[in-house]
Amino acid sequence: MKSILITGGAGFIGSHVVRRFVKKYPEYQIYNLDSLTYAGNLENISDIEQEPNYTFIKADITDATVLSALFKEHDFDGVIHLAAESHVDRSIANPQVFVNTNVTGTLNLLNAFKDAYGENFEGKRFYHISTDEVYGTLGENGLFTETTPYAPNSPYSASKAASDHFVRAYGETYGLPYVLTNCSNNYGPNHFPEKLIPLFINNIIQNKPLPVYGDGNYTRDWLFVLDHAIAIDLVFHKGRNHETYNIGGFNEWKNIDLVKLLCGIMDEKLGRLSGDSEKLITYVKDRPGHDLRYAIDATKINRELGWAPTVTFEEGLNFTIDWFLNNKDWLKNVTSGAYLNYYNKQYS
Ligand code: NAD
Ligand code: DAU
Repeated sequence: MKSILITGGAGFIGSHVVRRFVKKYPEYQIYNLDSLTYAGNLENISDIEQEPNYTFIKADITDATVLSALFKEHDFDGVIHLAAESHVDRSIANPQVFVNTNVTGTLNLLNAFKDAYGENFEGKRFYHISTDEVYGTLGENGLFTETTPYAPNSPYSASKAASDHFVRAYGETYGLPYVLTNCSNNYGPNHFPEKLIPLFINNIIQNKPLPVYGDGNYTRDWLFVLDHAIAIDLVFHKGRNHETYNIGGFNEWKNIDLVKLLCGIMDEKLGRLSGDSEKLITYVKDRPGHDLRYAIDATKINRELGWAPTVTFEEGLNFTIDWFLNNKDWLKNVTSGAYLNYYNKQYS
């Protein structure tokens, strides 16, 4: 019997992780803590909310008192920490909230964990989910490994880097038993439509412009979100203490090539003429400090834990597009209210 606290479980990746743990481990008690910011959506996990081994806790990780009370009330065996502000463009517009949640919030969680179990960490585990963006940018060649020095370039990645450093420091200073992973760009169902793939799927459906930043020659490595959830499950259960693992899809795409691929698939699925959606491509002002290229060397997690992506990009992308086309209500719900205000500010 395990009791696990997952933070950020109403968000994109967190919802897939929560679902996997609730379904795969009926003997575990899963507590999903989320403050439900604009990115948190309980609809993402409505299918499991009645499960007997699932509890939702609406709480904010910036509130240290609430966290401390929670850790007094429950004896958690593990924490899987995904709650974060996650969108680079928002971090450029408002860095402070990224410091509050990603840095202070993570510190609060570490303190609550340490204060509750610091006398005896036996059987406990703190799993911090991070990003490849902490490594900064690559040139045309090379891959990020677990020993690549941190060189974050956006307020988002700086805040994630700071939180990673605190996790590591708590491991060294207080013996806190942690594991940490740095993953590349995820895509899949429930992806909030402010990020490249879901935003562009939504805009293609609505025949709206596709705002490509700069010349579109920026490169990202894409991983299907369910493969990330599988990796998280493995690292949580089998990863070595005080270790970092890189997770990636071995799947690099220049933004413009990815957008053209997406346009082609969408034309077919929507019964449009080939080339119709590409006409929506609009080059817009570049993102400041835009990292040129991310690419992950995921051989360590493959070698030690046997993890590798289970779906090809073609399969994952088709599945994702179909999910969005079949869940237009979900899309409609999240593209209302606060999201629209942000959207207008970003793209006006
Ligand atoms: P997301 O923005 O979709 O979800 C974040 C969740 O955290 C939301 O449910 C939100 O309500 C919650 N949250 C935010 N602030 C909170 C606070 N103060 N207290 C409690 N809950 C709060 O993010 P995501 O894309 O699912 O990313 C999850 C994690 O994975 C993040 O730590 C992110 O840095 C990391 N990551 C994301 C990607 C990616 O491609 N999306 C890749 C690598 C790593
Ligand atoms: O690499 C992992 C990271 O991937 C995660 O840590 C972040 O949480 C996640 O948001 C994602 O960051 P990116 O900045 O890479 O993702 P985004 O979808 O915002 O952008 C992907 C690329 O597409 C990037 O080069 C910027 C570009 N882009 C993005 C948007 C939203 C555009 O050209 N136009 C757009 O409108």
